[in-house]
Amino acid sequence: MEIKIAVLAGDGIGPEITQQAIKVIDKVCRKTGHKPEYSEGLTGAIAIDKTGNPYPEDTHRLCMESDAVLFGAIGDPRYDNDPKANVRPEKGLLEMRQKLGLYANIRPVTTFGPLLHKSPLRKDIVDGADFLAVRELTGGIYFGRPQGRSEDGNTAYDTCVYHRFEIERICTLALNFAMKRRRKLTMVDKANVLATSRLWREVMQELAPSYPEVEVEYMFVDNAAMQIIQWPRRFDVIVTENMFGDILTDEASVITGSLGMLPSASIGVHTSVFEPIHGSYPQAAGRNIANPVATVLSAAMMFEHAFDCEEGGRLIRNAVEASLEAGVVTGDIDDTAPASTSEVGDWLAGWIEKS
Ligand code: IPM
Ligand code: MG
Repeated sequence: MEIKIAVLAGDGIGPEITQQAIKVIDKVCRKTGHKPEYSEGLTGAIAIDKTGNPYPEDTHRLCMESDAVLFGAIGDPRYDNDPKANVRPEKGLLEMRQKLGLYANIRPVTTFGPLLHKSPLRKDIVDGADFLAVRELTGGIYFGRPQGRSEDGNTAYDTCVYHRFEIERICTLALNFAMKRRRKLTMVDKANVLATSRLWREVMQELAPSYPEVEVEYMFVDNAAMQIIQWPRRFDVIVTENMFGDILTDEASVITGSLGMLPSASIGVHTSVFEPIHGSYPQAAGRNIANPVATVLSAAMMFEHAFDCEEGGRLIRNAVEASLEAGVVTGDIDDTAPASTSEVGDWLAGWIEKS
């Protein structure tokens, strides 16, 4: 089967990490009988430099015509300390999510045996943690209008808006994920303060009775932030709104030992996007030192979610496990004898070829 993959490498380490994922995808496709075809699209700061737009129309068309999008990273320090910049790389990502209707961001948080000693948490706390965070991705305060400044410039405002249908579709998705896992769902909100959170609770309370096997609990976001580091094993599926999900999934990602390990899938109405959860790591750009594993594992999610190919996902995950056991890892994991970005990619691709 032919599969069309749009590659949006983006900024910083984006090009080098997506390159490793492509090597791995190629090898998997030989085993699974897929024929991959890759097309590159511009996004992020590099797209601003070349076209003035962080998510150009051509890129959007390419995404719409593809079966899946492999995304690297966006962000550039030139913009981070310039609050007056008219256009920012991050706007490209938000626009892509909105135009592709990617209302759900799925971030599996799992630990890796050989990395447990790298976790900032004690081994007995983090060992065995395995949960799925489902973040709403196209609503809430990141998209709500009005947003802006008063005329005198001394007041700024963002608006958090959620409509019932947006909450219904993400909660339904999370309930279905819970059915396929340990059947426990934690909805994270701030219903003691926010009107949007109270609507979320109302909607979940309407939906939950149709899933009698799923145990649904509700947790305030401040409490959830604590429990993720005190007792991460207690979670199975977490569902939450856009900004809470943004923050909590970053927190969750570091407990596994390296930010460079965790993948994500953004799914919804049109083509799904698969991207590592880390950022563009500009200090490492072009140096062949960044960890490509989060992007490679995003390709595993691509096989499962976009191509309905469990075998492809399994092959990639097994290759990653094997590389950790063999100690073929980048400097974020072991700085005594680190492998380079491309060495890790080559090793993983070679392992899949031989398996
Ligand atoms: C993420 C990123 C983005 C977000 C930024 C770059 C806009 O941090 O995917 O979590 O916060 O949504
Ligand atoms: Mg984020």
